[in-house]
Amino acid sequence: MPRKPWEKQAMSTLTQRQLDSWWMPYTANREFKKNPRIITQAKGAYFTDDRGRKIFDGLSGLWTCGLGHGNAKISEAIYQQSQELDYAPGFQYGHPMAFKFAERLVDFMPTGLKHVFFTGSGSEAADTSLKMARAYWRAKGISSKTKFIGRIKGYHGVNFGGFSVGGIGANRAMYGQGIDADHLNHTQLDENLFSRGQPSSGAHLAEQLLELITLHDASNIAAVIIEPLSGSAGVIPPPKGYLQRISQICREHNILLIFDEVITAFGRMGAKTGAEAFDVVPDMMNIAKQMTNGAVPMGAVVTSSDIYQTFMDSPSKDYLIELPHGYTYSGHPLACAAGMATLDLLEQEQAIERVASLSPSFENTLHQLKGMPYVTDIRNFGFAGALTLESAPNEPALRPFLVAMRCWEKGFYVRYGADTLQLGLPFISTEQEIDDVINAIGESLQEIALT
Ligand SMILES: Cc1ncc(COP(=O)(O)O)c(C=O)c1O
Repeated sequence: MPRKPWEKQAMSTLTQRQLDSWWMPYTANREFKKNPRIITQAKGAYFTDDRGRKIFDGLSGLWTCGLGHGNAKISEAIYQQSQELDYAPGFQYGHPMAFKFAERLVDFMPTGLKHVFFTGSGSEAADTSLKMARAYWRAKGISSKTKFIGRIKGYHGVNFGGFSVGGIGANRAMYGQGIDADHLNHTQLDENLFSRGQPSSGAHLAEQLLELITLHDASNIAAVIIEPLSGSAGVIPPPKGYLQRISQICREHNILLIFDEVITAFGRMGAKTGAEAFDVVPDMMNIAKQMTNGAVPMGAVVTSSDIYQTFMDSPSKDYLIELPHGYTYSGHPLACAAGMATLDLLEQEQAIERVASLSPSFENTLHQLKGMPYVTDIRNFGFAGALTLESAPNEPALRPFLVAMRCWEKGFYVRYGADTLQLGLPFISTEQEIDDVINAIGESLQEIALT
């Protein structure tokens, strides 16, 4: 059969020069280049590596590819769009796909989120939402409201705003001064260890926001930014009632609430969004990753009408730009095509319902790892799960790395970060595949305990 345009020959070997030429992101380059793990193909829930091995994709890429890789409908949509309109400027000119996709996204969002500002990634969405929040208050005549409140262990990407509101020390330590931000504590409490789903205690931690308001004064605070479920820090679901209380405090003190749903939107929680799963609607929602099933980079900030309308009602002339902000690739036609196909597939394949119905079985299997060597906590929600491992002396990140490497050798890709191992299963995973990846983690834990 002739190859389709998007079907490419797999690469086989790489030279040391090629390996050295790519300074890889969020990678221990020195280790990787001694022991490269090269993915050459992907189909469904599986990668193929350069040794021809099939590897189960236990993190859906990077929380991106829940519908599986190489989906023919998404590939076809991208190809057709590239033939019809590969690129069009989004500054002062527009193309139909961006408007149509924005409308579909508004329909997908919880009631109240009505306008989509496209970006190229989750990090760009984070910084866009922060800039929008400051500009919103300035447009309202309260230009003192510039400070942001994030959370310890929060992750909002790597750009200057995002890392400043982020709360993972390693991501900030090298980069010096960021923008003006303070942080709420995280919600990981000892009494919640091994909780299934949302932990029952911890709602009181939302009251810390009142302390920060006392400290900084609401007249200086633009927004609170929160991942409804912290993903990158190792899947930390919100305690019951916590997000509701944060939202209430924000409303009472005239502070915008931004949900960073770069991981949680589009099905991973067994609901359309984290906002839907946890029943709290923010003023702005940041999205990316699963938005195009990972096939083309894209992100967005979806805002309330109040925010959008504040800019549209500004007293300046109609031909002047209301928000001087945007990216060359905002609303890229190929990303819009991939996103439309992704929304179609989420619906047609009932993928979100599938996550909701299989997540209790994922939860049960994952929690069977309790009692395995080094496992000090297990957390889960929807198709996201994580383990915390007891640190090796002075090396908190070593054991997760060793386990992940063993899993890779056994044919399973799982993410490791700091003292955690993380799973973000493809939505198309079968019960057997769920058992297999969790067994592989269990075996790997036992093996490293013996070495
Ligand atoms: C919650 C959250 N926000 C932002 C980002 C950054 O997204 P990107 O890597 O697309 O810039 C991530 C990435 O993992 C994320 O999990």
